[in-house]
Amino acid sequence: MKRIGILLSGRGSNFQAIHRAVERGEVQAEIACVISNVPDAGGVAYAREKGLTVHALSSRGVPREEFDRQVIRMLLDAGVDLVCLAGYMRLLSKEFIAAFAGRIVNIHPSLLPAFPGLHAQKQAFDAGVKVTGCTVHWVDEGLDTGPIIAQAEVPVQPDDTEETLGARILEQEHKLYPATIQAIVSKTLPVDESMSS
Ligand code: GRF
Repeated sequence: MKRIGILLSGRGSNFQAIHRAVERGEVQAEIACVISNVPDAGGVAYAREKGLTVHALSSRGVPREEFDRQVIRMLLDAGVDLVCLAGYMRLLSKEFIAAFAGRIVNIHPSLLPAFPGLHAQKQAFDAGVKVTGCTVHWVDEGLDTGPIIAQAEVPVQPDDTEETLGARILEQEHKLYPATIQAIVSKTLPVDESMSS
């Protein structure tokens, strides 16, 4: 059984969706550990409640390389095969990417390469696009720039607000992310060779 490491910084609704899918057997993997750089993040409380292995360590004021080295160590100790970023609000150091080359995925609330970075839902809403959505992609050193694995579209309705649109995107995220992780761990979708070489 593949071992997943979850990295988060916030409420962790995507993590919860992955956890539920694991419990239902829809994702055939084990959540080996949950790591948060924000100790009081909602996702941390949920992980503890579920009895998962949790590491909550503040990244505030810690140099990136030094912080990432601690996280790498925790992931290696937990024997993690696949690192899933779930609202992890940090860029990863070169060393981190190298340690898990081609084995780090992220979910982003837009159809990348459109609207990378913060507030992607607002960016799409303000741009007046008719369709937006979410993307699961391999992670490289850039901001939401790695190769795209899967996407789900969400049409923008005329009466949408930024909030209603964001909520519909999130619903899709909660389906797309577990389904994509299952495709990866079941090898329906191979680990990205281009990124692990
Ligand atoms: C999601 O919109 C995800 O796409 C983005 O950060 C948000 C995390 O939300 N990367 P949650 O913590 O999973 O609820």
